[in-house]
Amino acid sequence: MLDTIPNNVNLDQNPKLQRALLHWHPKFLDWWKEVGPEGFQQDQIYLRTAIGVSAGDWAIYDYVKMPDYRWGIFLANPRKQDSIYFGDKIGEKLWPQVPGEFRKELRRLIVTQGDTEPASVEAQRLLGKTAPSLVDLRNLFQINVEEARHLWAMVYLLHSYFGADGRDEAEEMLVRRSGHEDHPRILQAFNKPIDDWLAFFCFTMFTDRDGKFQLAALAESAFDPLARSTMFMLTEEAFHLSVGDTGIQRVVRRTAELMQEGADPEKAGAIPLAVIQKYINEWASACYDLFGGEDSSNAATYFGTGLKGRFQEGDGKRFPDHLALDDVYTADVVEQGKWTKREIPMRRAMNACLLDDFITDLHRGLKRWNKVLEDAGVTERLTLPNKRFNRNVGIYADSLFAIDGEMIGQAAFDKQIGDWLPSREDYDLVQRSMVPVFEPGKVAGWIAPPTRGFGNNPTGFEYVLFH
Ligand SMILES: [Fe+2]
Ligand SMILES: [Fe+2]
Repeated sequence: MLDTIPNNVNLDQNPKLQRALLHWHPKFLDWWKEVGPEGFQQDQIYLRTAIGVSAGDWAIYDYVKMPDYRWGIFLANPRKQDSIYFGDKIGEKLWPQVPGEFRKELRRLIVTQGDTEPASVEAQRLLGKTAPSLVDLRNLFQINVEEARHLWAMVYLLHSYFGADGRDEAEEMLVRRSGHEDHPRILQAFNKPIDDWLAFFCFTMFTDRDGKFQLAALAESAFDPLARSTMFMLTEEAFHLSVGDTGIQRVVRRTAELMQEGADPEKAGAIPLAVIQKYINEWASACYDLFGGEDSSNAATYFGTGLKGRFQEGDGKRFPDHLALDDVYTADVVEQGKWTKREIPMRRAMNACLLDDFITDLHRGLKRWNKVLEDAGVTERLTLPNKRFNRNVGIYADSLFAIDGEMIGQAAFDKQIGDWLPSREDYDLVQRSMVPVFEPGKVAGWIAPPTRGFGNNPTGFEYVLFH
C-alpha cells in the first residue's frame, strides 16, 4: 500500500515513517469515505496528482476515482538561504529537526494549520450535488483531494518529528469534525457551513487566502521541513484561490448581464448584487479573525524565535530589517468610547501586518469584479468590509463597528446588520438557484460559464465520467 504514495522524502528508506503511516493511512481512507465528497466516490474524475516538485512537471493529469487518489508527501526544493534570516537567531543554521525548546509551539502551529485542511473537505461534502457545471464539479473535487493532501503534509511532519504525541495529534485530525457540537475543528471559520456554491467561492476566495498567508509565513520558518512542506502546498493552493476569485467573478458577471438587460436577477434565478455583497461581508470578516489578535504575544514569540516570518520575509526586497525590534505598528483603537492611536511593538503586531497584506490581496479581486460591473454599465460597486467590522478576535472585538469601520451603538448596529450580513431569506434565495448541471459544456443560469477548462482541455471536456 505504501509503495503507491508519491513522495520525495525517502519514504521507502524510512521504516519509522512507514510504520506510522501503515497505521494512519486506513483511518484516513475511512475518514475520506465518511466525510469526503458524498455521492461521487465511484465516478472517474479528471484530476491532477502531485508527483514531484520540479517547476514544469510536478503533476500528472488523468481520470481517477477519488478513493484511489494518490495522496503524496513533498518538500519543496531547499531555500537559497541555509541559515535563519529573521528574529533573534539570525545567522544560525536552519533546523533540520525540531529544537526541544520550541517543540510545543511548533506542534501547535502544525496542528492548527493541519486541522483546517480536513475541515474544508468536510464542510464541502454535499456541494457536488448542486455543481453548476462539470468544470466546477471537477474543480471542487480537485480542491478536496488537495486539501486532504495538505493534511498528509502536516501529518508527515507530526509523524516524523514529534514522536508519540505527534502520532496522537495525527489521529485527532481525523476525529474532529467541521461544525461538530462536541468536537469541532480548532478555528471557528472552519466550522462555518458551506451550503451553497456562492459560499464555496467565498471560502476559496477568502478562507483559502487566509491559508495562503499563513502558509507563506510558515514557509519562512527556521524549521526547514515545515518551511518546505508549506512552500509546496502553496503550489496547489494557487489554483484553489483562482477558483474562488473567478467563481465570484462569474456570479457577478451573470448578475451584471441580467441587470444590463433590465431583468431582475432574482426573478431570473440569479443572485442579486446586494446578496453577493452580504456574502462578501460575511466571509471576509470571518477571515479577518483567522489572523488572530493584532496585538499578540504569541505572534512576537513566533517571530522572535524564527518559527514564523512575515509574508515575503526572505525575498530580500521587502524588509530591510529582519529583527523588527525598533518599529511600531500604529492602530486606531477605541478606548473608553473614544478613538485613540495605539502603538504596538512590531513583533507583537505580526498578525496585524499579515492581515493588512491579506486585505491588499483581496482588493485585487474586488477590482476585477468591479471591472465586470463597469464593463456591463452597472453603476453599483462591490466593496470589502472594514477590518473592524464583525470581529470576534483582536483589538476590535469589544466594540461595535459599522461596515465602513465607524463606531456604532447597539441599536443602530441591530437596525443595519440585516443590510450587511445575509439573512435566512438571503441564504434561501441562493439555495433556490442551486440546480445541478452535469452536461459537458453547459452551465446553470445563475453563473456565467467558466472561461477555462483544466489541464489544457476545453471547458466542454467531459471532466467527470459517471459510473
Ligand atoms: Fe490547503
Ligand atoms: Fe486550499
